[in-house]
Amino acid sequence: MNNCSTANRGIFQATVCENKQISRRFYQLSLETSAVTFPNSKPGQFLELDLSSAALPLTKAIPVELADISQRKILLRRPFSFFNVATDGEKTTLDILYCVLGAGTLRMTTLSKGDSISVIGPLGNGFCVPQGKQTALLVAGGMGAPPLQHLAETLLRDYPGIRIIAFVGAKTKEELLFETELGRPATEKIERIIATDDGSAGYRGFITDCFTKWLKENPVTTDDTIIYSCGPEEMLAKVAQTAKEKNIDCQISMERLMACGIGLCQSCAVECRVEGEDQTVYKLCCKDGPVFDTKEVVFKL
Ligand SMILES: Cc1cc2nc3c(=O)[nH]c(=O)nc-3n(C[C@H](O)[C@H](O)[C@H](O)COP(=O)(O)OP(=O)(O)OC[C@H]3O[C@@H](n4cnc5c(N)ncnc54)[C@H](O)[C@@H]3O)c2cc1C
Ligand code: FES
Repeated sequence: MNNCSTANRGIFQATVCENKQISRRFYQLSLETSAVTFPNSKPGQFLELDLSSAALPLTKAIPVELADISQRKILLRRPFSFFNVATDGEKTTLDILYCVLGAGTLRMTTLSKGDSISVIGPLGNGFCVPQGKQTALLVAGGMGAPPLQHLAETLLRDYPGIRIIAFVGAKTKEELLFETELGRPATEKIERIIATDDGSAGYRGFITDCFTKWLKENPVTTDDTIIYSCGPEEMLAKVAQTAKEKNIDCQISMERLMACGIGLCQSCAVECRVEGEDQTVYKLCCKDGPVFDTKEVVFKL
């Protein structure tokens, strides 16, 4: 995991193994592809799915709030993080957790076992583990949970002694993805602190408040600790501020609207500081990210 750059991305045909609804707006899609051609991927990397030929659900199954946009044509691929990647012999299974938000993800719900879908990936740069880290603090908000779940399981596998504490926030209990998946044995080894906006699970309020409170009450050795975070940008900015105050290394996975996903269209710019200079530059979320060191990101809030 120390090499976090992209290698050997490509276009692959994958077969749908399962597309399971896990709560009202959330689904888990499992895709199978050839382990021979699909290269190793890292937590934090993502893939782009071609949903242009997926069917719309029946009218009665389309949520009222999405009725207007449901008819839009899907011209561009849609990006999704890996939630889990498993290789068994010649097969690789790619799991994605997705939230139904618009025309693309609505169509995604109709994919069923045996369907074939075009995938580009793995894309972008994933999370890295700098030498000597013994504690990983994971801060996830809403749909930021899937890549951090993938990271947590990879850390457990590749860094057996590492202590992992996951701070997981969502609007409601229903949207707590770390909670609903996921009875995998590895997950039991992760300490978890939960917060929901409405108090339906864990603390009532923002997970960032729990996180800063926890750090006050549990001083950590800054050199051997690292923070990883994914979620809404406002949350990432707060996590970055806390990391700066405590002088702890911090990597975040950013989201931008993406068109090409491979560094060609420039639609996914992230403003970044240049070390030792006053000026800033624009990096591309799809190619230079989506994982960035918080020291370089200029948040637009
Ligand atoms: C690197 C990366 C990883 C992602 N991983 C996941 C994941 O694991 N699971 C998941 O459910 N979603 C993930 N997303 C977001 C996902 O790509 C969008 O939700 C999806 O493209 C929406 O497509 P749509 O056609 O349904 O909605 P659209 O009609 O395209 O959009 C519906 C609404 O969602 C907003 N939106 C769309 N894309 C984004 C985005 N990237 N950031 C913020 N707002 C957006 C739009 O502005 C609009 O308001 C990821 C995005 C990126 C960039
Ligand atoms: S999405 Fe096209 S450059 Fe990033």
